[in-house]
Amino acid sequence: MAQFSRATLRDMPFNAEVAGLLESLDASQGDVSESLSLPAECYTSEAWFEFEKRAVFDREWIALGHVGAIPDPGDYFTLEVFGEPLMIVRGKDGEVRVLSSVCRHRGHLLGDAQGNAKDFTCPFHGWSYDLEGNLTAAPEMEGTLPFEELKRTACLPTFRSAIWNGFVFVNFDGEAEPLDGRLKALSELVRNHNMGGLASITPVEWPGNKWNWKLMQENALEPYHTHYLHTGIHDFAPSSNVKFAEWDESDDGAIYREVGFTHIDGGFNIAEKALFPALPDLTDEERSRVVFAGVMPNLFFGAQADVVFYYVILPQSAGDITLRVGVLTSWDNLSLPTAGQLLNGTIAGIQIFNDQDTAANIRTHKGMGSRVAPRTRWSPNEKTLAQINNWLIKRYKSYADSLGVPAEAAE
Ligand code: FES
Ligand SMILES: [Fe+2]
Repeated sequence: MAQFSRATLRDMPFNAEVAGLLESLDASQGDVSESLSLPAECYTSEAWFEFEKRAVFDREWIALGHVGAIPDPGDYFTLEVFGEPLMIVRGKDGEVRVLSSVCRHRGHLLGDAQGNAKDFTCPFHGWSYDLEGNLTAAPEMEGTLPFEELKRTACLPTFRSAIWNGFVFVNFDGEAEPLDGRLKALSELVRNHNMGGLASITPVEWPGNKWNWKLMQENALEPYHTHYLHTGIHDFAPSSNVKFAEWDESDDGAIYREVGFTHIDGGFNIAEKALFPALPDLTDEERSRVVFAGVMPNLFFGAQADVVFYYVILPQSAGDITLRVGVLTSWDNLSLPTAGQLLNGTIAGIQIFNDQDTAANIRTHKGMGSRVAPRTRWSPNEKTLAQINNWLIKRYKSYADSLGVPAEAAE
């Protein structure tokens, strides 16, 4: 069981479209002052999306959720990443593991959306697995092979996982560089949020968002739009108060910015105030800002005085993503008698911004499908977008090189 399973998709030869896009990436590399956005087809092409699945999502750390939602032994949740059914389970030993939720008999899926289990019994024919994925029962199988033999070959595959600040990640190829070493500056920036010890509400799943996954990160990470798209409701966190980080090749796990508020304990709602008490270890300066961070490719969070809200982005196709949206706060805050109302208010506040961003993302994605779609230069306030592209292109090129197929030779 100690061995991690590898579960990458089969490599595919580039088609002419992918080869052409690979050749055009150089113009999108470099600093915000000189680079262009990605070609529009990188957002709309299903062939490019298939390439990205292999180049990025099969080889990187993919965010799944937060351990605060599964605090006790036996707590678990399930989700699908690119159609791969997974269970994130806290074992009897307190460890969090990422297991396949596919029964080793005939493939029925195990578990509910979330819950607490002593073991996982398949409803189809009653095979049972413990919290570590070991087969513990397989009724009526003794007639063909001894249970001990079956047990050796029919445990649930365990995938390589990592936890950073309480967020659980999976790595399908088993070879990604450890996450901690690539998130040093961001870890320091949000250290006093102590996110690893926060509670998480059960994430809300929002399926059917009709835009490319990169547009989601772009919208979340650039401050240029906040004054225009969010006119009037974002003024307490003006783009003039934004601090960007410099791109650091050796610490490139995250793309992020911080935004100073006009007052302490600001919050993303109509009152512009944090609704819960501030987290206990934050300094006044930290309570007067939000850190918006993308742990690439598919986690985005906003860390403010009282809560951290996060989005796990699960791409379904080039133009469709499922979002799992969660809120972290202290266990003390969650035990307040008004916690339910405060949480509802927090989520409703975020929703106001989200509704505006959603409309913009849908319309931008449509624009990317135009025959005359733009490939733009950036504003200085889009520095994070140039950084996202540096992050992506490094992965795109690395995978293309590993296949050893020169772009010119591809059909
Ligand atoms: S498919 Fe699970 S026990 Fe048969
Ligand atoms: Fe926004």
